[in-house]
Amino acid sequence: MLENPVLDPKRIPRHVAIIMDGNGRWAKQRNLPRIMGHKVGTESVKDVVKTARELNLEVLTLYAFSTENWKRPAIEVKGLMTLLKTYLKSEVQNMLENNISLRCIGEIEKLQPDVQKILTRVIRETAPKTKVKPSLTLNLALSYGSRSEIVRAARIMAEKCVSGQFDPEDFSEQLFASHLYTGGLPDPDLLIRTGGEVRLSNFLLWQLSYAELYITETMWPDFKGERFIEAIRDYQSRERRFGQTSEQLQAE
Ligand code: IPE
Ligand code: IPE
Ligand code: MG
Repeated sequence: MLENPVLDPKRIPRHVAIIMDGNGRWAKQRNLPRIMGHKVGTESVKDVVKTARELNLEVLTLYAFSTENWKRPAIEVKGLMTLLKTYLKSEVQNMLENNISLRCIGEIEKLQPDVQKILTRVIRETAPKTKVKPSLTLNLALSYGSRSEIVRAARIMAEKCVSGQFDPEDFSEQLFASHLYTGGLPDPDLLIRTGGEVRLSNFLLWQLSYAELYITETMWPDFKGERFIEAIRDYQSRERRFGQTSEQLQAE
C-alpha cells in the first residue's frame, strides 16, 4: 500500500475508468508529430498502472482506441498499433512479476493479426490463477464502442432465447450486464477524462450510470501517478447518494 496520508484507504474506488485524451494536442503544443504524443502517453499508462496497483484498486479500465478512431489517418492508426505491441511486449514481465492480469474489451477481431496474437498471448499468460486474486485487473478498451457493445449483448441474448437457453421474462439488469464485454467486472466508481473535453465519446454508457466524473485539463502525456492520486482525492470528497438523501446516508 502506498503511503499516502491524503487518501482514505477505506474509500479507494474498486474500479477506475480513464479516457486517455489529449495526446495529439500535447504534441501539437510542442511542434511534434501526433504520434510522439501517443508515445509519451504510454509512459503515463505505465505510471498510472503502477499507482493503481500500489493503491490496491481492483480494476483499471483504459480507453486506448475507440471504434470511431478507425476513421483517423491510416498512418496514425498504424503508429498506435505499433505502440500497443511495444507496450505489451515490454510490460508482460512486469505484469507477471506484479500479479497484474490483463483483460480487454472491444472488437478484438478487428485488430491486425500480429496485434491480436500478442494480445491474446499476454491475456493468457497473465490470466488469474485459481485461488490467487490478481493485484490489479488491467482492462484495455481496444476498438471499443459502447453502443456496439450493447447491441452485441442484445444479439447474444436474443440468440439464447431462440435456442431456448432462456426466456425474455428472464431478462434483468444483471443478466444483461453479464453479456457485455465487462461481464464479471464491477461498474466503474470513477471516470477520469484528461484533455478537458466534457463528453463520453461512446465509452461504457451502461457501466458508467452511477460513476463519479472527473475531468481535467491535463493532457494525457502529463497525467502521472500524482495527478491520478489527486483525482482519487477528489472522488473521496464526493457523497455518492445513489438517489437517496444526504440525511438518509448519514443515518446509516
Ligand atoms: C487520445 O488522444 C488517444 C486516442 C484517441 C488514441 P488524441 O489523439 O485524441 O488527442 P487529441 O484529443 O487530438 O489531443
Ligand atoms: C476518446 O478520445 C477515445 C480514446 C481516448 C481512445 P477521442 O479523441 O477519440 O474522442 P473525441 O473524438 O474527441 O470525442
Ligand atoms: Mg482526442
